[in-house]
Formats: sequence, C-alpha cells, structure tokens
Amino acid sequence: MRMVDLIEKKRDGHELTKEEIRFAIEGYTKGTIPDYQMSALAMAIFFQDMTTVERAELTTAMVESGDQIDLSAIEGIKVDKHSTGGVGDKTTIALAPLVAAVGVPVAKMSGRGLGHTGGTIDKLEAIPGFSVEIDTEQFVNLVNKNKLAVVGQTGNLTPADKKLYSLRDVTATVNSIPLIASSIMSKKLASGADAIVLDVKTGRGAFMKELEQSKELAESMVAIGKSLGRDTMAIISDMNQPLGFTVGNALEVKEAIEMLRGEGPDDLRELCLTLGSQMVYLAKQANSIEEARRKLEEVISNGKALEVLKVFIASQNGDPSVVDHPENLPKAKYELEVKAEQTGVVSAIIADKIGTAAMVLGAGRATKDSEIDLAVGIVLNKKIGDSVQVGDSIATLHANDEHVEHVSKMVKDAYSFTDQHVAKPTLIYDVIH
Ligand code: URA
Repeated sequence: MRMVDLIEKKRDGHELTKEEIRFAIEGYTKGTIPDYQMSALAMAIFFQDMTTVERAELTTAMVESGDQIDLSAIEGIKVDKHSTGGVGDKTTIALAPLVAAVGVPVAKMSGRGLGHTGGTIDKLEAIPGFSVEIDTEQFVNLVNKNKLAVVGQTGNLTPADKKLYSLRDVTATVNSIPLIASSIMSKKLASGADAIVLDVKTGRGAFMKELEQSKELAESMVAIGKSLGRDTMAIISDMNQPLGFTVGNALEVKEAIEMLRGEGPDDLRELCLTLGSQMVYLAKQANSIEEARRKLEEVISNGKALEVLKVFIASQNGDPSVVDHPENLPKAKYELEVKAEQTGVVSAIIADKIGTAAMVLGAGRATKDSEIDLAVGIVLNKKIGDSVQVGDSIATLHANDEHVEHVSKMVKDAYSFTDQHVAKPTLIYDVIH
C-alpha cells in the first residue's frame, strides 16, 4: 500500500477501507509516514468528508495506537461525561459526586490543559492537599468503595491523535467534523467507560459557534460511539455566556459546592440535572430519565451528594472542610469591582473575552509551562437579561495584583447592553440519542 494512493483516493471523494485507514494511522504514529503526506490526507478529508464507517475506523485506529484503560475491575456500568469546553464550565466537579451519590460509578481520568482556566484537575487541586496522583489499584478500589475517584492522565493514550491534532493545528484542518469527532471519541473510548454522555457546547464562547455545526458534531460522535459498542448520547448546551457566575479555579469549586448544597446558579443546576439524568439512566440506575432526575434532586436536598463530595475529597488527601467552609479555599488578596458605565439590560457577554480576562489574571495557562494562580478569577454579577444602572457592579475581579485596570477593561468590553427587554438564553438546545 502507498500513502500517495490513499491521498489521491480521498481527494477524489472515495471511501477509504479499514485497512487503508489503519495503514495511514499506524504509519503516521510510527513515523514511517511523514507529516507532509498526513497533512495532505487531512486536507482531503476536510474537503471530501468521511462516511460513518470511515469515521468509526479512524477512531478505532487511533484508540489502538496506544494504551487502553481497563476498568473491568470496577463494578457496575461506568459512564463518562465529556464537554467540548467552555468558559466557567465546572460541571464535572458538581456532576461527578452528584451521580455517584445515586450509585453510578464514576472513574474519571482528567487533564490539565491550556486555556482560560485550568482543567478539572487544576480546579480540584484548588482544594488544599487534593491529589490526583493515585495508582491504578488505588483508583479502582476508591471507585468500588466510594463510587468516585479522579486520576490524572496516565499512560500513552491515543498517541496518533496527539500527533495528528498538533499537525491539524498548523495545517488549517482542525475544523473538520469527521476529524474532531474521531479525535474526541478516540480519547473517550481509550479511557475505558462503558457509556458516554457528551456535552457539546454551542455559541460564541464555544469551539462550535453555530447550532447546526454543533448538532452535526454531536450526531457524528454518537454514531461513532454506538457503532463501536458504547452507549452514547449528547446534549447541545449554550455557551453564549459563561456557565454560572464564576470563572477561575477555586471560585468554580466554590460554586460547584454551592450547587450541590442546592444553592448554585440555575444554569449550572439545570445542566447538571440534565447531564446527570442521562448518566444515571445509561448506568441503569433508573428506568426513565424522569426517575433519574428525581433521584438526583433527592440527593441534593437530603445532603447525600455533599457527603459523597466530602468522602471523595478526604480519600484523595484533600481537606473536606472546604465543603462546609469554602473560605478555606485559596483566596485572592484583592476584590475589585467592574462598574457599568451605562444603564440598560445586558444583551450579550462574550464568553471568550471573559475567559481571556481570567487567564490574564492568572487563572489559566497561556503556555504549557505557565503556573496557574488557583485563587484568582472573575465573578459575574450580571448576566444576559439582567438590568443594570450606571455604577452597578457587573463583575468582581479576584486578583493578586491591585493594578488590573486592563482586565477591568477586557471585562467591560465583553458586555453589551440594550434598552429593550432581553430573554434569558436557552440552555439546552437539543438531546441526541
Ligand atoms: N478537541 C479534541 O480533542 N479534538 C479535536 O479535534 C478538536 C477539539
């Protein structure tokens, strides 16, 4: 087989066989196929698309390029959740103990990552003492005992995806549905869950800005998951403004705890209940979505979800007192108000700009080696649809530097106002089975 023939075949719009896809991915991972040929194939896929069968074969080839996690020693149906990423997305921190409290085993492997704030692991590390450095045996034992454990990414998972994703980044081929869907699904499948719930974000702060595109991506990932024998579903949720009120690691942990106490922001609660119901249902811990939702509401109101969170934190060497005393989380030195310069109704908050402002405060990594300041971030005091008077605080900066006028300006620039009534944005656009 020759790579040039595969490139030509895809360029001309034909379907690649399983053997051809494997040849390309194996060769590229080993280094026998050079970057320039893989770039050409990625560009051909970008223009000619892939069939569902090709997408599943590409996913499988990437899964098999590296280690695969075996979770079979964990009892029950393991359900994983994945979000395509957004600003203020602390869902996992609230959702994992929430569904675990209903009996769903959550064996979560998570990353740090670049971006506006840290990833789930960085956020959890805002809890004093919390450690994700646990070995596989401990990880399995903790999930069997507490129904919940989170471990940092270990092993050599999907090296083909790592290499291909970096190549796509510099060859203008990231934005291709078959390539994105297979990239995300390969990582989920290699992590070993039996079932997968996907939260595909849509809107100005999301990777996918248009609803139609987001739906197409969600449908493609669900089709890949199902054709490879994993129960998979997706929701499409809004990212036209940040989720909840907080953006920043410790601030987001605090908000997740509040949600589990039944006090958090409505959008975070609704998203957790929607995703959680699907997880509980896929894990066969309820006979219907409605029953699953009732069970989740019950563990919030009777305090069981908070208890699971405390046990989870203590089992991974963290200080569980943060659950009842969030003031024990890292706290920034200064709280600086960003004041409205006009009267009106908030019509838009560009999530990306708020995320970048949080990163400039130090909440996220600009490069792989940057240090995160876990205490800093932004609290939004006004969201879309809220009325504002001149001089009202629209946001509070939690900073360790007093001179952050440039960040105040970024936050102000993210907000738009109108003198008309503005409806609250839809949170869940669609559910895809
Ligand atoms: N996230 C991924 O993991 N892969 C992509 O291709 C795009 C977003």
